[in-house]
Amino acid sequence: MKGLILSGGKGTRLRPLTHTAAKQLVPVANKPILFYVIENLARAGVTEVGIIISPETGDSVKEAVGDGSRWQVSVTYILQVEPGGLAHAVKTARPFLEDSPFVMYLGDNLISSGISEFLQAFQSGGLDALILLKEVADPRQFGIAQLNGQGRLVKLVEKPPQPPSNLALVGVYFFTPAIHPAIDQLKPSWRGELEITDAIQWLLDCGKRVDWRRLEGWWLDTGKKDDLLTANTLVLDEWSRRDIQGEVDEASQVSGRVSIGPRTRVINSTIRGPAAIGADCLIKDSFIGPFTSVGDHSHVESSVLEHSVLLSQVTLLQVDRLEDSLIGRNARVARHNRHRSLQLLLGDDTVVEF
Ligand code: DAU
Repeated sequence: MKGLILSGGKGTRLRPLTHTAAKQLVPVANKPILFYVIENLARAGVTEVGIIISPETGDSVKEAVGDGSRWQVSVTYILQVEPGGLAHAVKTARPFLEDSPFVMYLGDNLISSGISEFLQAFQSGGLDALILLKEVADPRQFGIAQLNGQGRLVKLVEKPPQPPSNLALVGVYFFTPAIHPAIDQLKPSWRGELEITDAIQWLLDCGKRVDWRRLEGWWLDTGKKDDLLTANTLVLDEWSRRDIQGEVDEASQVSGRVSIGPRTRVINSTIRGPAAIGADCLIKDSFIGPFTSVGDHSHVESSVLEHSVLLSQVTLLQVDRLEDSLIGRNARVARHNRHRSLQLLLGDDTVVEF
């Protein structure tokens, strides 16, 4: 069983963060989403992993992941020159996949459970494809499945304007090589992509054995902006633990499940967990409330923040209260008392709400 992670694509929905980085590398609780994906494959015993990369962000993905030895998997990078769709990515990966069965995992999908039980169901069921389904609030944003009265799959449709159900395809799929001829006959969809949803529909139409399982627990497609803060909250809430490596001075209070990375200094501040503070940060005269992640090399001084994500190298000075915010790399937010007006230097696609 091989693994194929899709870490290419454009990431337009996460701009401006993805102007400079791959969306799969955006951190949740200070760890790139892609790492959770690799961990989940490794835990299920998948050791040969191909990662689809794009020309724009491929180098940063390679640099972050390396050869996979950290997770005891071997990684092969596969360049997809254009984001031609999920099925196009599988086509591009054909020399790596050969005739092996494989699990395809979208590099921006985060799920609360492991995948071992689904892998077993796929292997023992003699199936050609196994998909995972989960109810969603807005089915127009996903691939959607229609079941018949007996609960069997009858139809799959990608981002339908009039959805036949609210059961979305989760970004984890199990396939035998039967998917390749299905992909070979695809034509680009209305959005100009070769859709894996259409290829699975073709398998169904040909009478191949396609089954589904309901995903229990949460699932977040972090390629969508609102899901990113939610992902941070859920991961901190369920998976974080107390781990203090940096220095906390006597005037500070750190309570609950808080991780503080090496060489970080906390001076005269309060941090309430669950929260994750990266390495090499300075937190001074500040309050950091629950569900907050602060990336490496950040500087927070005389500020109050909670339920927010700061990526790396962020500077926050004299900010009275920052909530529900997502701040990109190397950004600086500072209040100068002498100015009543806001003075902003904002990048493309930035959002400011107050
Ligand atoms: O997240 C689940 C949804 O993922 C499914 O419900 C849909 O049926 C499926 O089409 C897909 O929809 P999205 O529109 O969310 O896919 P997106 O374009 O965001 O791509 C998903 C991942 O695959 C993302 O990490 C980028 C990567 N990708 C995407 C394309 C189009 C590639 O590596 N190559 C590509 O050509």
